[in-house]
Amino acid sequence: MLMPMTEPDRSLRDEVLAGLAARPRRLHCKLFYDLEGSRLFEEICAQPEYYLTRSEIDILTRHGDDIAGALGENVTLVELGSGSSTKTRLLLDALDAPAAYVPVDISAEFLDESAASLRAAYPRLRIVPVAADFTAAMPAVDELDVPAERVVTFFSGSSIGNFEPSAASELMAAAAEIGGADGRLLIAADLRKEGHVLEAAYDDAAGITAAFNLNILARLNRDLAADFDVDGFHHRAVWNADASRIEMHIVSRRPQRVRLGDAALDFGEGEVIVSEHCYKYTVDGFAEMGRSVGLDREALWLDADGRYSLHLFRQAP
Ligand code: AVJ
Repeated sequence: MLMPMTEPDRSLRDEVLAGLAARPRRLHCKLFYDLEGSRLFEEICAQPEYYLTRSEIDILTRHGDDIAGALGENVTLVELGSGSSTKTRLLLDALDAPAAYVPVDISAEFLDESAASLRAAYPRLRIVPVAADFTAAMPAVDELDVPAERVVTFFSGSSIGNFEPSAASELMAAAAEIGGADGRLLIAADLRKEGHVLEAAYDDAAGITAAFNLNILARLNRDLAADFDVDGFHHRAVWNADASRIEMHIVSRRPQRVRLGDAALDFGEGEVIVSEHCYKYTVDGFAEMGRSVGLDREALWLDADGRYSLHLFRQAP
């Protein structure tokens, strides 16, 4: 039986069609994270080439005490895009008597699950989950039942790299604003390095990133009644040194026509859909980006191999 499309499907469809009509063709990277995509992302994090997750864990474990000292006691930790909150536990464990934890995530289901397990692990910590899209609006802590004096906004995983630089700096300013004039922003950024290391991190030998990238097409087939032949496309990761970003491409193997509902899309051989940009920064470049929106960097931590960075910003007086 054909199901009538619901409103959210229709807006998703319009957004997807607009992206695929643009040149180069684009799909938004948020489309990766259906259930299968989220599972594949967890698997990417365990691949030997994908150093980012291990580097972040290294920073949080080796510099935990130092980070806790810089943040102070009784902080309210607001985490943007908290997901399963697994790495956050390392930070919560290091912090000196944190007052509250506010995980913010777009997936309400995921959020409830992880809040329940965090409550069991941290019975004395006030945990106030917020299901929201922080790219649309930041949460207002003074409307939540948490102390609002020492608010630290945490943005982990180097997800800031998925935003175009101008949007990224605006997002940093808005994230720091959550805590008012005394608020802090603790944010991770992956660092610029040799192209072959970056390309391997985004094209692992086991093919997990390839499956993650192509899973978008399977998702569009399911959610938007499209008929992509997933095997008719391949994954490619390219380091664009001029723009300082990894680009994830979905490449058509041959000329082909794809239907999406009642629309038809023609792909040439080698034609590309850009599914993600992952910007890589230098430590100075990232501080400069903060400065451009009125943020001072107070502290910086690196992993043992100097591949990845964690920055603490505050609003300039
Ligand atoms: C979740 C955005 C940090 O850019 O490294 C991993 C997503 N894409 N492999 C990243 C991703 C391909 C990841 N972030």
